[in-house]
Amino acid sequence: MLKVENLQVNYGAINAIKGISIHVPEKSIITLIGANGAGKTTTLRAISNIVKAADGSKVIYDGKDITELPAHKIVELGLCQVPEGRLIFANLTVKENLDMGAYLRKDKENFAKDLDFIFAIFPRLKERIKQPGGTLSGGEQQMLAISRALMSKPKMLLLDEPSLGIAPLLTKTIFEKIVEINTTLGMTILLVEQNANLALSVANYGYVLETGKIILEGPAKELESNPEVRKAYLGET
Ligand SMILES: Nc1ncnc2c1ncn2[C@@H]1O[C@H](COP(=O)(O)OP(=O)(O)OP(=O)(O)O)[C@@H](O)[C@H]1O
Ligand SMILES: [Mg+2]
Repeated sequence: MLKVENLQVNYGAINAIKGISIHVPEKSIITLIGANGAGKTTTLRAISNIVKAADGSKVIYDGKDITELPAHKIVELGLCQVPEGRLIFANLTVKENLDMGAYLRKDKENFAKDLDFIFAIFPRLKERIKQPGGTLSGGEQQMLAISRALMSKPKMLLLDEPSLGIAPLLTKTIFEKIVEINTTLGMTILLVEQNANLALSVANYGYVLETGKIILEGPAKELESNPEVRKAYLGET
């Protein structure tokens, strides 16, 4: 579904991503884990062409080379990003935020059905449908950001640190919902996380990013038990 080949990103003289390759098969959950500043957000932005990749980088999505495609065209192809820090519209209500997500889609007739699906996954959003987005808790805003992306009917989701700044209990709920979205919709997901434990518990396969390079990759279960990963990311000494 998504193939990133030899991706490189430079910010001026800073070589932030140094030639990484990632494969996300259809209907899978693949995770990219790494510490602060490893280059996780930069990788997602480069995939969506929000930041420009250096020459020699290649991004293939759904069989098409999208490396040079403008960001809005990539969204139209169904590759949708839920950004870090969520970026919902604070002054719009929950319902209005969801409407904005559906703005681009052509099949308006299925709108109500999809809204029902979202409220079944996140009942809290239904309870807060008229509440301004900015007054939701951090975890609820994350639910709204994911739901808004779903309203655009994507084929694949790029999730940037859905656990960021959210209490552990709510994070657990959100990750369960991510799995539910993957299994019930067959949604392909690339999940970027600093919380390696959590990400590896839901993913099929993982990549470990360190200062712009992939230093390890493998089936999530293997990475979970890898002593290097446990030491660096799971707080073991
Ligand atoms: N617009 C920019 N201009 C210059 N340098 C940048 C820019 N954006 C990111 N960087 C640098 O690129 C590196 C990777 O940043 P990035 O935001 O991708 O990391 P991250 O893995 O997402 O970190 P975090 O977990 O803190 O979100 C960092 O050293 C950062 O300072
Ligand atoms: Mg980031």
